[in-house]
Formats: sequence, structure tokens, C-alpha cells
Amino acid sequence: MKRFRPSSMKSAPILLAALVLSAFSITGVALVAVTHQLMDGRITENQRQAMLTKLAAIVPAGRFDNDPLEDQIQVSAQELLGGAQTRVYRIRQGDEPVAVVLEPVVPDGYAGPIQLLVSVLRDGSLGGVRVLYHHETPGLGDKIEERKSDWVLSFTGRSLTDPAPERWEVKRDGGEFDQFTGATITPRSIVHAVKNALIYVDQTGETLFATPQPTHDAVGAG
Ligand SMILES: Cc1cc2nc3c(=O)[nH]c(=O)nc-3n(C[C@H](O)[C@H](O)[C@H](O)COP(=O)(O)O)c2cc1C
Repeated sequence: MKRFRPSSMKSAPILLAALVLSAFSITGVALVAVTHQLMDGRITENQRQAMLTKLAAIVPAGRFDNDPLEDQIQVSAQELLGGAQTRVYRIRQGDEPVAVVLEPVVPDGYAGPIQLLVSVLRDGSLGGVRVLYHHETPGLGDKIEERKSDWVLSFTGRSLTDPAPERWEVKRDGGEFDQFTGATITPRSIVHAVKNALIYVDQTGETLFATPQPTHDAVGAG
């Protein structure tokens, strides 16, 4: 005689398998999400540290005690700073302004825009200039990188009076700054951009320090 076997008993193994599979996939998704969160945090912290290191290299060592990454504003001066919005980090010792560090964009690089980091000390001299990113040609325009040549260090200590404004050119154009062999366009564009950043700071002065910083979100959005 055929024994009666309820259909729920037949489907039990299938249900069990489905449950096990679901448990595995939920655990998998959760693991990926947690790993992503952890990595995200580490990348952000790494980026923060990398930026602080870059800033520290072009402002006077031991002469500031604020966190420039938490003390930044966005300014609009496309003519002089190349972008619709430009980030400005304020460097302070207590309430005393020490320097501002701008991120101007060089619009006329050989192979596209070049992003700079330009530190201007309170006396109007350059604490230093660094290239944050560029697309210039390896072996030609890329000598603007500090790790490729020391050309970019030639700006340190210079100001709008040293050299005189008309000498803020590459040597080929009658100015003070070296060009590269077979590559004049890149250094020329950077010399002009650094001079413009100096002009901007000269014109704006203490307002740069007095401007309240926006909320953290607003800064991050820029
Ligand atoms: C493939 C290629 C890539 C070049 N890349 C650059 C560059 O990154 N920066 C630059 O200033 N000139 C670059 N040049 C050279 C410029 O076209 C231009 O000739 C030079 O900047 C002018 O400088 P000079 O008068 O000293 O020769 C490149 C030329 C070629 C053919």
C-alpha cells in the first residue's frame, strides 16, 4: 500500500537548501558592505594625510597649529585662478594668519588643465608651488613635477616684486624662469598662473582669512 507523504515533507529539503543559500548570500552582501565601508574610511584618511603632507611642504614648518583641511573656503575668481570655484586653505598660528594655499587651475597647459597648489605667505612671498595633477607629456612637460625635476622649486620665496611683474615670464619670453628644452608651453602657462595667484592674494588680502568657512558639506561639494 502506498504511504501518504504530505507535499510539505517533499519540499522540506528544497526549502532548507533555499534557506542556506539565502543565508550565504546575505552574509556575502553584508561582508562586502562592511569591507567597502572600512576601505572607504581608509581611503579618505589616506587622502587627508597625503594632502596634509603636500601642504606642510610649502608652508613654514612648525609655524601653524590649525588643521588647514578644516579651515578652507571656496572663492570665485575665474580670470585669475582658472576655475569657476577655487579652494583656499587658511594656515594659522592661533588667530594669526600665516599663509593661504590656493588650488588654481592652469587653463592653458599643453595637454589640458593643470591643477596647482600655491602657498602665499602673509608677506606676499611664495611658500612654494606644487603640481597636483596634469596631463603633460612624459619627458617634456612633466618636468613640472617635483619628482622629475626641481623646476617647480624655483618659485619658492618669489613674489610680485621678485622678479618685477614684467619679468614673470620664461627666459625665452624675456623673463626670469627657465623653460624646458623643446617644451616651453607648459612652463610658460604655469609661470603665468602662479603670477595670477599672487595678484589674486595681493588684491584680496586679509579678506581671505576673515571669510568664515562654510559648513563642512559645502566645502566638500566644491
Ligand atoms: C607629441 C608632442 C608632445 C609635446 N608635449 C609638450 C608638453 O607637454 N609641453 C610643452 O610645453 N610642449 C610640448 N610639446 C612641444 C610643443 O608642441 C612646442 O613645440 C613647445 O612647447 C615649444 O617650445 P620650444 O619653443 O622650446 O620648442 C610637445 C610636442 C609634441 C610633438
